[in-house]
Amino acid sequence: MAILTGSNKIKTAVFISGTGSNLKSLIKFSNLKKSPITIKLIISDNPKAKGLIYGKIFKIKKKVFNFKNKSVAEKKILLEINKNKIKLICLAGFMKIISKNFIKNFKGKILNIHPSLLPKYKGLNTHNRAIINKEKFSGCTVHLVNSRLDSGKIILQKKVEIKKKDTSKRLAKKILAEEHKLYPKAILKIFNL
Ligand code: GAR
Repeated sequence: MAILTGSNKIKTAVFISGTGSNLKSLIKFSNLKKSPITIKLIISDNPKAKGLIYGKIFKIKKKVFNFKNKSVAEKKILLEINKNKIKLICLAGFMKIISKNFIKNFKGKILNIHPSLLPKYKGLNTHNRAIINKEKFSGCTVHLVNSRLDSGKIILQKKVEIKKKDTSKRLAKKILAEEHKLYPKAILKIFNL
């Protein structure tokens, strides 16, 4: 695939619920010449998500949707996604489970980053569970999203050693640093770059 420039880049939405450090690294990546994506939209279920600040800093449109009624929220998001011609969604610390219906109706790819070596430790509290189980390694995974939680096709993984002194907070920090490198690599991979 040839390198895409300016308006030819794949219009991408990033979904966040919290700090948004993966969002920040994706924005930085999207601004590189070699990146096939341009981030056009930031979506959150949480009006207090710290990562929303990156919308302001990098002048990217941001929208918050109330998930009290999930099907209404998802309908509104699909409208916004279509309006902005989004073809790729990157979930980046988005803590809501996207419905089958949304996946079926979105005409593009949905990626997620998860802080474990899937299929191990799907769901929440991954670091704590890995430490309690005395795992020697954990890591992170970028995968395609399907209708089952953390179960879609794996694109890339990165292994991280769990040291004796690692608390779940320390491990989370080590893995997060790897996530920031892995997500861009996975995007290059799915577009054969
Ligand atoms: C990341 O570690 C991400 O893998 C995880 O939340 C963190 C978000 O950090 N995602 C999940 O647990 C999804 N099930 P960030 O907001 O700084 O990118």
